[in-house]
Amino acid sequence: MIIKPRTRGFICLTSHPEGTLQNIKNQIDYVKSKGKIKNGPKKVLVIGASTGFGIASRITAAFGSDAATIGVFFEKPAAEGKPGTAGWYNSAAFEKEAHASGLYAKSINGDAFSDEIKKQTIDLIKKDLGQIDLVVYSLASPRRTHPKTGVNYASVLKPIGQPFTNKTVDFHTGVVSDITINPVDNDEDIQNTIAVMGGEDWKFWMEDLKEAGVLAEGVKTVAYSYIGPELTYPIYRNGTIGKAKDDLEATVTTINKLLKDLNGISYVSVNKALVTQSSSAIPVVPLYISLLYKVMKQKGIHEGCIEQMQRLFAESLYSGEKISLDEKGRIRIDDLEMREDVQKEVAALWEQATTQVKKYWQIQLLHHKEDIAFKSISKSKWEDQKLAGDTLKSVQRT
Ligand code: NAI
Ligand code: NA
Repeated sequence: MIIKPRTRGFICLTSHPEGTLQNIKNQIDYVKSKGKIKNGPKKVLVIGASTGFGIASRITAAFGSDAATIGVFFEKPAAEGKPGTAGWYNSAAFEKEAHASGLYAKSINGDAFSDEIKKQTIDLIKKDLGQIDLVVYSLASPRRTHPKTGVNYASVLKPIGQPFTNKTVDFHTGVVSDITINPVDNDEDIQNTIAVMGGEDWKFWMEDLKEAGVLAEGVKTVAYSYIGPELTYPIYRNGTIGKAKDDLEATVTTINKLLKDLNGISYVSVNKALVTQSSSAIPVVPLYISLLYKVMKQKGIHEGCIEQMQRLFAESLYSGEKISLDEKGRIRIDDLEMREDVQKEVAALWEQATTQVKKYWQIQLLHHKEDIAFKSISKSKWEDQKLAGDTLKSVQRT
């Protein structure tokens, strides 16, 4: 199966749900409020640029550092009365705001795993920017068609070795129950997951960009990883997805060799757990995230994607100082999530978690506009939900 690349411009700006535009504006305002990032990136490619950490990276580069940005993503525009996907509206809103501020911003909508989209992106860089100085790799996908062999890979989210039983929340109903996830019974599922979410495609991008001569001297590239607490190890870090993250992290060495003669460098940043389309698909993890949010908010240290990315750029990638890395060479902006007091309180809440969490979880959904509850939401529905959210909030306070 080859996915047809689509590169149409954004049409009909007036039909965007207002909530999406407001969400993008809020992220822009946040980045502006933190001041300019000194010596920040100037010409940036973001792969996986439409939602989650990707759109936040793009906003940080553009509004924190006046960067020209090219975003690559895979989203559906509105068609025949059907609303488009959240990432489509995000990107339209971003471009609108970027252009209004006199910033270059263009997007390519199509399969980033394909050679065709890589080529289109390179052509656009050559035509408009010449060379780029930062490549953000923020793809998250359940499947990948290999560009050289045509093989379709599907990732699986499973433990390895033993079955894993723990609590999970049904994201639609808010009901908490036990779930048992059987482990993979063959190595193929592990290899397939690595093929989708491991480092090969990041490497392919960097190889193609380098060969085309579009990487600037001193280029940086960063991809995102996750570790999380022991309670999710069986399903995340020690599971199939964790093997893919191991592979992604190991790719840093390969890319560093590739970029050596350009004095370029690659990083993996370990980010905080956040509600996005991809994290919501993992069993057990969403319940952990809802408890984590609760604890971090109480402590006044909650961060969303934009706070994380602004901190990554300003205090790490472009701090002008030596970047501090963990023993495995990774940037750690999951430091607040992993703090001992935070994890202790989450673990205590985990023990107590029942459907009581339901109310809290629903509020989270209503207040985190990036999450999947807001996918394809119409304006009136949005307002209904916002009202419901305010009601729930007052219930929670009493
Ligand atoms: P997301 O689902 O919000 O964003 C994924 C992006 O990839 C979107 O822009 C989507 O359009 C794009 N995409 C997917 N398939 C594509 C394809 N075939 N071609 C072109 N674009 C495609 O994901 P999120 O959560 O922002 O994840 C980004 C990275 O951050 C992933 O590597 C993830 O593992 C990592 N991460 C996520 C955490 C979380 O809790 N959400 C925590 C730490 C790291
Ligand atoms: Na992303």
